[in-house]
Amino acid sequence: MTDGTSLDLEAFLLREREQVEQALERSLRYFSDHIPTSLAEPARHAVMAGGKRLRPILCTVAYRTCGGSAGPAAYDLGVSLELLHAYSLMHDDLPCMDNAELRRGRPTPHTLYGEEATVRAGLALIPVASLQALRAARALGCDEDTAKAVVRELNRAAGGGGMVGGQYLDLLAEGRTLGSGGLDDLHGMKTGALLTASLVIGGLAARAPESTLAGLREYGRAVGLAFQVTDDILDETSTSAALGKNPSDGLLAKSTYVSLHGVEEALRRARALADEALEAIRAAAIEAPELAALARYVVERKR
Ligand code: IPE
Ligand code: IPE
Ligand code: MG
Ligand code: MG
Ligand code: MG
Repeated sequence: MTDGTSLDLEAFLLREREQVEQALERSLRYFSDHIPTSLAEPARHAVMAGGKRLRPILCTVAYRTCGGSAGPAAYDLGVSLELLHAYSLMHDDLPCMDNAELRRGRPTPHTLYGEEATVRAGLALIPVASLQALRAARALGCDEDTAKAVVRELNRAAGGGGMVGGQYLDLLAEGRTLGSGGLDDLHGMKTGALLTASLVIGGLAARAPESTLAGLREYGRAVGLAFQVTDDILDETSTSAALGKNPSDGLLAKSTYVSLHGVEEALRRARALADEALEAIRAAAIEAPELAALARYVVERKR
């Protein structure tokens, strides 16, 4: 197995992001044709703001790794995850949650369009993401059972047992000291669930065998946790200019790896999780230099 070191990751990410941007444009055009402008505008602001696009990239890489062919419909599938991610950030930044005014270097949607419009536009993205996943799975030639499995996976990850539940636990944990297990559960839900679903959905759409799906799931668990630990490290050590968002975990007394164990230990943990992710794909005999490189990128990134 390769460890991904021979891959030019920067060039790869640039190419992938370009494809994701085009797929997002396709999706938003469809969205705008079917909903009121007052909902479409804040949603477009949130979606087309130039994030890292990690979730759709993981999804399309998993799809190709499992034998799916490259092409626009694979990116359309990944876009379903990015739409959910964008809505999660719209709500995460609201005054009743993290109260953030800067995201991806721009004003957050509620500071431009108001809280009500932002709440509604975010909610409107949820069914759009589901329909997007269904349409894309069918376009990729999935049978109805597989398409349903894709949509089920997406909704499970997005809901109370996943991202939404994790965000709730995150707010409850402000100002409290959680044990490491509690913190893993919280991070696994609020961030890990959607990242894991990105990989599993790619595998499902390519009709990967159960053993491969299990490998992708385990890789996603480790990378998802590593991703949030790194987000917490950057919140402590980086700047608004570099991140495009204002560091706020200290201000909000969030329960993070950094607040519990300090930056050094958090970094050690993030790197150990990246190793666990590499081991997961090795053990499942998944040949994917891109996944190996992405596991490293998740912990070494600067934004
Ligand atoms: C930020 O996600 C929120 C977390 C889950 C930590 P990203 O770091 O993926 O944000 P963008 O999409 O690149 O802006
Ligand atoms: C957000 O975590 C996770 C989501 C599900 C959106 P954070 O609150 O740490 O994300 P940032 O730092 O604001 O991007
Ligand atoms: Mg938050
Ligand atoms: Mg936040
Ligand atoms: Mg954060």
